[in-house]
Amino acid sequence: MERFEILISAQQIASRIKEIAAELDETFKEEVPIFIGILNGSFMFMADLLREVKMDCEMDFIKLSSYRGNETSGTVRLLKDISADITGRHVVIVEDIVDSGLTIKFIKDRMMEADPASLTIVSLLHKPDVAKLDFAIDIVGFEISPEFVVGYGLDYDQKFRNFDGIYRLKEGPEDN
Ligand code: IMP
Repeated sequence: MERFEILISAQQIASRIKEIAAELDETFKEEVPIFIGILNGSFMFMADLLREVKMDCEMDFIKLSSYRGNETSGTVRLLKDISADITGRHVVIVEDIVDSGLTIKFIKDRMMEADPASLTIVSLLHKPDVAKLDFAIDIVGFEISPEFVVGYGLDYDQKFRNFDGIYRLKEGPEDN
């Protein structure tokens, strides 16, 4: 039995990233923003997005604890902080997926403490039916239904991050 079903192809991701990059280039044409990717899931999106933007920019990564398997632990822990000083800087957060919203809320609150000039949140995927947020995600690549997905950086038990598209993880006997 097949365990994966394609949801968003590599080509669809690539063309959406071009649009997102163009939007960011327009917004930040007079600035030098710092892109902050959330590890591990955003590594591929971050790399592809940064190859498409034309403005001068800097980048850093932050690492947080996330899902175990397909269950959330309910709390967010900081595993690696950013090295850059973001006070007074234009910050672009690059996230793979906003699911419950717990992670992005934690990041936003933490970044705002440093008093950046602006904070823009970009998420490749968004599960709007799940996320309970009191703020908007500025740029969303694709809105998806509340099902577990893997590939293009997203994992199930640390695997499948290397797939070049986004796949539905179909439940089957192998998952038990
Ligand atoms: P949230 O805190 O519930 O919004 O979850 C955010 C994090 O959970 C993401 O950065 C992912 O690492 C992980 N996550 C959420 N949904 C999925 C999914 O469908 N597949 C793989 N990882 C996911």
